[in-house]
Amino acid sequence: MNGLSSFIAAASEQARQTDLLFFSATALSAFIILLVAGLIIGLSIRYRKNSTADRSELPSLLQREFETGWTLATLLLFVTIFGWAAAQGFGAMTPAGEPLQINVVGKQWMWKIEHAGGEREINELHVPADRAIRLSMNSQDVIHSFYVPALRIKRDVVPGHTEAMAFVADRPGTYGLLCAEYCGTQHSKMTGKVIVMEEEDYADWLSHQEADNSLAAQGERLFTTLGCSGCHSNKANVRAPPLEYVYGSPVALADGRIVEADDAYLRDSILQPKRDVVAGFKPIMPSFAGRVSEANLLALLAYLKKKPQQEARDD
Ligand code: CUA
Repeated sequence: MNGLSSFIAAASEQARQTDLLFFSATALSAFIILLVAGLIIGLSIRYRKNSTADRSELPSLLQREFETGWTLATLLLFVTIFGWAAAQGFGAMTPAGEPLQINVVGKQWMWKIEHAGGEREINELHVPADRAIRLSMNSQDVIHSFYVPALRIKRDVVPGHTEAMAFVADRPGTYGLLCAEYCGTQHSKMTGKVIVMEEEDYADWLSHQEADNSLAAQGERLFTTLGCSGCHSNKANVRAPPLEYVYGSPVALADGRIVEADDAYLRDSILQPKRDVVAGFKPIMPSFAGRVSEANLLALLAYLKKKPQQEARDD
């Protein structure tokens, strides 16, 4: 599927329901606009100046009951549409069946996807058809928006937050993926593909992927999910010390001392960040003591040790 059709196609039941709702609401609005406009024009002509139309008192039924009935009917109609839209929206968030968890990380300017088994891809999301998919979404730097028009789903990803979004695609094919939030100079190039595959094709595809379950890879995931990247990335709004090449290098502290960024220093900086503040930075980082397990701490350290190579590979 190419070009426009990869966006317009409706690849899920939810997409078709969204279309039905959209076109129904549009048709209803058009009908009411035409009715009101028609009445305005028709009555303007009928009661124009000097016309001989009957201008005597209206029968009381038309004065009160008709007006009340018309007001209530439109109110009911639009409350019904609201209920329909709300039910559909809530239903879309909780598809039936055990969902397949997939992590999505947005960063300038790419979408990084990570499957439950550790398989990773960039700007491509392979999913099986007819299976509930639950995306757990984060941003590593600024606000992006994960938008798949063919599935009629869109969700902003915000640094430091984890967003969730679910869908069940039922038409195998390749569909467009866009970033729908202006996120910098390359925003318009932050595009990708969602590839919906038959269950067996998906299993086959998955078996040919290499899973990266190294400690450093786990640490990289934690770096985003714990919210570290919200401040410690070069594009973050909050100013925090950069962490590229930090491991093993000397660090100047606010109190004048110079220490080496070894395992112990990095560990302390995560658990007791107010103790050894880096010169030139405010002591605003919260402590992660009790929020990060020992195993996760090791993974984070493994990631920090590897960070320069990691960033170079991504960009
Ligand atoms: Cu990412 Cu626009």
